[in-house]
Amino acid sequence: MNAPPLDDRDGVIWLNGKLVPWRDAKVHVLTHSLHYGNAVFEGDRVYNGKVFKLSEHSARLIRSAKMLAYDLPYSVAELDAATKLVVAENKLESGYVRPLAWRGPEVIGVSAAGTKIHVMIAAFPWGKYFSQAAIRICTSRWKRPSPESSPAGSKAAGLYVICTLARDEAAAAGYQDALMHDYKGRLSEATGANLFLVFDGELHTPTTETILNGITRQTVMELARKRGITVVEREIYPEELARASEVFLTGTAVEVQPVGSIDEREYPVGPISTQLQADYAALVRA
Ligand SMILES: Cc1ncc(COP(=O)(O)O)c(C=O)c1O
Repeated sequence: MNAPPLDDRDGVIWLNGKLVPWRDAKVHVLTHSLHYGNAVFEGDRVYNGKVFKLSEHSARLIRSAKMLAYDLPYSVAELDAATKLVVAENKLESGYVRPLAWRGPEVIGVSAAGTKIHVMIAAFPWGKYFSQAAIRICTSRWKRPSPESSPAGSKAAGLYVICTLARDEAAAAGYQDALMHDYKGRLSEATGANLFLVFDGELHTPTTETILNGITRQTVMELARKRGITVVEREIYPEELARASEVFLTGTAVEVQPVGSIDEREYPVGPISTQLQADYAALVRA
């Protein structure tokens, strides 16, 4: 049986400072962000009842909104407290948290001046993102835009238009996810996760110019350095995929996810991926 849709569940959602019954957490159809894509969101994971890197996620939500020229009416500490409350009230031991901020229905038109800012936090059970030990991904025709054309570092709803297109096109072609290049033809990221490659025992990952600088990405780089692995952030081009010995993705949702193939080129699940996957799994539950 399918899980019930996300608007038809028991529990409570934190909405603009109050806990409301899950089914009552609604917005109006003339909500500005619904029309113009300027909502911002987060995705946190709960392990053993505790949100991993909670303050980092709360801070990024605030920064994402700032990049879209609005200020949230809550501090990091207030968002952290609200998240803890909603996780506890829903008795969530393990799962996912989805904070969202958006502009309200006060005006219709491109200008958002005069809109009120709303924030909600929902928490629900959620298992593994991919069921496969190693996923098959393909190169997307969609390119990450130049930072001159988009607020690349913001987790802005509008930027996910290309991610959803890329992901669903990949799925229709029999792949689990898509790898996007950026506007300069460099490797960038997957549709909801960052990219890592192993070259000669070193861990390489694209620079952050056109991608979301993932909290998991930063955590995994730290874990790698602790293991004595050299970490290199640089521009990486598709031709280099031929000499990578391991490939994996990182993200709150996917955690550390080995990639078994990109297009038709195959990769083993190698020692560095396996080590960092284990280190990450231990850290989030520590
Ligand atoms: C496009 C994109 N890149 C990277 C990530 C990984 O970010 P994080 O590790 O902070 O979850 C995500 C997930 O939030 C994402 O949606």
